[in-house]
Amino acid sequence: MREEDFVFNSPENRILDDGFVTWKSPSNIALVKYWGKSDPQIPKNPSISFTLNNCHTITTLEYSKKEFLSKKQVISVIFEGKTKEEFKPKIEEFFKRILVYVSFIADYDFVIKTENSFPHSSGIASSASGMSALALGIMSLEKKLNPSLEREYFLNKASFLSRLGSGSAARSIEGPLVVWGKHPIIGNSSDLYGTIFPFKTDPVFENYQDTILLVDQGEKQVSSTIGHNLMHSHPYAENRFAQARKNLGKLTEVLQTGDIKEFIKIVESEALALHAMMMTSDPYFILMKPNTLKIINKIWEFRKRTNSNICFTLDAGANVHVLFPNREKKEVDLFISNELISFCQNNKYICDSLGEGAEIVI
Ligand code: DP6
Repeated sequence: MREEDFVFNSPENRILDDGFVTWKSPSNIALVKYWGKSDPQIPKNPSISFTLNNCHTITTLEYSKKEFLSKKQVISVIFEGKTKEEFKPKIEEFFKRILVYVSFIADYDFVIKTENSFPHSSGIASSASGMSALALGIMSLEKKLNPSLEREYFLNKASFLSRLGSGSAARSIEGPLVVWGKHPIIGNSSDLYGTIFPFKTDPVFENYQDTILLVDQGEKQVSSTIGHNLMHSHPYAENRFAQARKNLGKLTEVLQTGDIKEFIKIVESEALALHAMMMTSDPYFILMKPNTLKIINKIWEFRKRTNSNICFTLDAGANVHVLFPNREKKEVDLFISNELISFCQNNKYICDSLGEGAEIVI
């Protein structure tokens, strides 16, 4: 689908009665990382992620028709029961960006009520789950205005709109494996929206586990948006984008054959390459903490000692995602609680696994 296919143009200009819609949308963890983009939120390389099951955002979008259409639109944001003025600029910017595709939003005032399943400032980015939940709410409005919308169009456009809020949010609509960004061996892939990994995956990846070790629950010193921008003048940028494309090609094979040793190599290399980009940006920065490295070394040691298929990945922060096949859960859970939890801030961690994507609540 092309960009122009996502422009809403209904023959009749209907206004809906006041109402609300609620969506629950998950977070995701990239295996091949998106780091670097051009305008408007077009990734410099394709990425692929596991959709999570337990880490999610629930967002209710209340809409009421504006008293008169020329009136300035009012958007209120309520996060976990409290008004959040500081979230408003990002959401207003998002509404401005998507207006050309969903022009009907200009006719309503909105109250956005949102909450996360994971603790606030746990260091888990809520932009993927948050932006996708909001985009889905807006798509539900479009569906009310145009009930003949097909499911595939609905999901693609929800991902398209999510992308304009936060790139990684494009991968949070469906599951359990989503590709975003054009890649020659993934036929239906697109830079504009995420699509489900189109090949049959080996059973070893069924119900794959992700235990998130919360190493640092503070605010990040450098936002992802700044980090992406630094890739414009990065001396290794082109090689990094080529590496990611190659890794996505290799991972596509591995996911089908179940070659888990190769899976581990690609996934860990991607995590370290992402952080290597941060460390070699101008200005350079480090998001890992000493305990991030201690955990990585412990994982390597355990893998060598036991021949386990445990591995790690990182997002743009200090937390460690510990990935492992469901069939190894007993041993790995024991290892995590005996040897890794002490490296987490206040011993906090989240057990998650692969999920199927967003769901409507009401
Ligand atoms: C390291 O999607 O948070 O998690 O598009 O600026 O909102 P914006 O960035 P964001 O970047 C995510 C970066 C990453 C890797 C990934 O999820 O692929």
